[in-house]
Amino acid sequence: MSILLTGGAGYIGSHTAVELLNAGYSVVIADDFSNSSPEVIKRVEEITKKTVSVYRVDVADKAAMRDLFSHETIEAVIHFAGFKAVGESVKKPMMYYRNNLDTTLTLLECMKEFGVSRIIFSSSATVYGSPERVPIEETDKTGGCSNPYGWTKWMIEQILTDTAKADDTLSCVLLRYFNPIGAHPSGRIGEMPNGIPNNLMPYITQVAVGRLKMLNVFGNDYDTPDGTGVRDYIHVVDLAKGHVAALKYALDHTGCEAINLGTGIGYSVLDMVHSFMRVNKVDIPFVIAPRRGGDIAQCYANPAKAERLLGWKAEKNLDDMCRDSWNWQKNNPNGYED
Ligand code: UD1
Repeated sequence: MSILLTGGAGYIGSHTAVELLNAGYSVVIADDFSNSSPEVIKRVEEITKKTVSVYRVDVADKAAMRDLFSHETIEAVIHFAGFKAVGESVKKPMMYYRNNLDTTLTLLECMKEFGVSRIIFSSSATVYGSPERVPIEETDKTGGCSNPYGWTKWMIEQILTDTAKADDTLSCVLLRYFNPIGAHPSGRIGEMPNGIPNNLMPYITQVAVGRLKMLNVFGNDYDTPDGTGVRDYIHVVDLAKGHVAALKYALDHTGCEAINLGTGIGYSVLDMVHSFMRVNKVDIPFVIAPRRGGDIAQCYANPAKAERLLGWKAEKNLDDMCRDSWNWQKNNPNGYED
């Protein structure tokens, strides 16, 4: 029996593959490598000294996915595949709705046809839109997303919720990630953004390595302790372990649960910059710039449900996140092209 990871060569998928293999699971990856590299697979195998079964397929391609399901015995699916660039989703909404929804629908149809009844979905704290309060609990209001990417996550959560309601054999966990950063401590796998990064930590590491000149701090007049935006940064290895815990839960429960994966601690942009400089002994030149459209002041999780249901909580701290992000970036200045 194997666990199928759609988009398993991506940033979170690859770290989850490592944790699953280390925990003794067999892993099948379906990825079209449109936003990842086949080199990732080699490195996952190198870290774990185990092999992975890989299908180079578009998850929306029904024939290719039927072929995969007929060759493998899949016990559960972790669905990471999807487009994820916020800015691009605003410019090309149809591309985002078509891809992110089609992949999910094809996957659900194949699961039904082949009798697979457990799915873990890669959702995001973005489904809370502009949160009414922090820390955010799973029962808090969702919707009001500021971009099509966020709406695809919200819509897929709805599709899975309805599907689980109609089929009482289905087990479904919606994992709402806060802000994943960091990399595997080996420095062999990590995040490889396309072009100029949008997210804070990849931008900081690219300034540190000299690819970018200076960090723009988007706004210092928010209602937060130092005026800059506050987020719940979580180490990607902790996040990956959260998937292993969610999988164990899905194997002996039915129904649909939304679960926050965060640390419960909020750090500001300036906290991040100063910690990165202190831990890694590098300089990060920055300027205060205007607020970025669509940004919120504060977003951090109440992670109690994850601990209660999954027995999981984040273990790594901000220093670990800063150290491992830099270790990955400096050893792989051009990502997987090196
Ligand atoms: C963003 C997305 C969110 C997505 C998440 C994935 C937006 C509006 N939201 O969240 O939908 O799920 O990434 O990880 O894009 N910052 C700077 N300078 C920079 C980059 C960021 O000051 O160059 C600040 C931001 O204003 C924010 C914080 O850093 O306060 C974190 O930003 P980012 O890493 O982009 O994550 P989110 O905006 O939380």
